Amino acid sequence: MHRFFWIDPDANWDRRIRFFSFTWRKNGGMTTDIRDKAYISHHDVIGLNFIKPDGPYVFRRHFRQGLRSHVLELLLPGDIVIEKSGTVIDGTRWYPKAAPHRIFRIFRTRLKTLNHALEEVRRVKVVERYLLPEYLAQSIEIIVDYIGPCGRDLMLCGLQEYVQGEILDPWSPMPPDGLLPTLYDTLQIQSATPAMPIAPWILNARQKGARFVHRIKRMIAQTRHVPDLAGIGNLIMAASGAIKLVDINNIRKIPFDGTIDLDDRGYPVCDKSIEALSILEYKLLGRPIDRGEEIYRTFLEPRRMEQVRTREMAYHRNSK
Ligand SMILES: Nc1ncnc2c1ncn2[C@@H]1O[C@H](COP(=O)(O)OP(=O)(O)OP(=O)(O)O)[C@@H](O)[C@H]1O
Ligand SMILES: [Mg+2]
Repeated sequence: MHRFFWIDPDANWDRRIRFFSFTWRKNGGMTTDIRDKAYISHHDVIGLNFIKPDGPYVFRRHFRQGLRSHVLELLLPGDIVIEKSGTVIDGTRWYPKAAPHRIFRIFRTRLKTLNHALEEVRRVKVVERYLLPEYLAQSIEIIVDYIGPCGRDLMLCGLQEYVQGEILDPWSPMPPDGLLPTLYDTLQIQSATPAMPIAPWILNARQKGARFVHRIKRMIAQTRHVPDLAGIGNLIMAASGAIKLVDINNIRKIPFDGTIDLDDRGYPVCDKSIEALSILEYKLLGRPIDRGEEIYRTFLEPRRMEQVRTREMAYHRNSK
């Protein structure tokens, strides 16, 4: 017997993993697997067998995208009307951008077995345990029974908290005024709420940065897993100064045996994530890192970094 559910973005956040099984609706006329499409639209999403076609939300492609997932905004139709037609506040017409209610992700990677799918979800849970909602864009991970052009297949989706803010890019050059004062300026311009004075904001952001770095280090030491901190856009700083990890799909087990781990795309993601962590620590905390610390001593060792650079260059050559 089949049970029918719909993905409900307002669902109880306590039940983070859900399984969905549907048989009653085929994906009408779809000839390409949704995971292989370069872009998808609202129409593609509501054509999916596990999405309610007449639900209350409009799906819109988010302006930032990665390679591993489709990232879509869930918007309320009323907000889109206001975005297009404007609204009058104190005699002036404003055109506020519709704010996503949630982010809906479709993971492009094929899941070979249910165990493979569960392993992906388990890794997200590990990160969730260490970063807590304060430092992670919380996500309900959903394993669905996708009916595509080649029949049924497991697919991993996520309904994730939307994080508004500025990308915290470890690789960008250090701004002359320092990272936090520059981020403060950018974020306060974007923010709808009145600005907090710069000095307490920086102090608060620095404390949050220190806690974030500490939690990642604890996770590495205790679980030997690291999330992808190297990808641009994976970390976002909110106007409050909070740092949130939004990319939770590339969590790797770190080999501590001297080998350089490469992800499914051939990128040395563990080494580059630890390097990114060291740069973030330096930029956020405004002081040099302790190179004697075990993870930095191991992963920032000059000969090892040279080997990582070679792998990274090969990755970039092959991605062209
Ligand atoms: N919940 C979210 N809130 C705000 N922005 C998000 C959210 N999720 C993703 N983004 C943005 O969308 C872009 C793509 O996200 P992400 O890096 O997670 O993509 P991906 O395809 O899963 O992974 P990869 O980058 O490894 O290819 C990033 O720039 C990220 O900042
Ligand atoms: Mg990413």
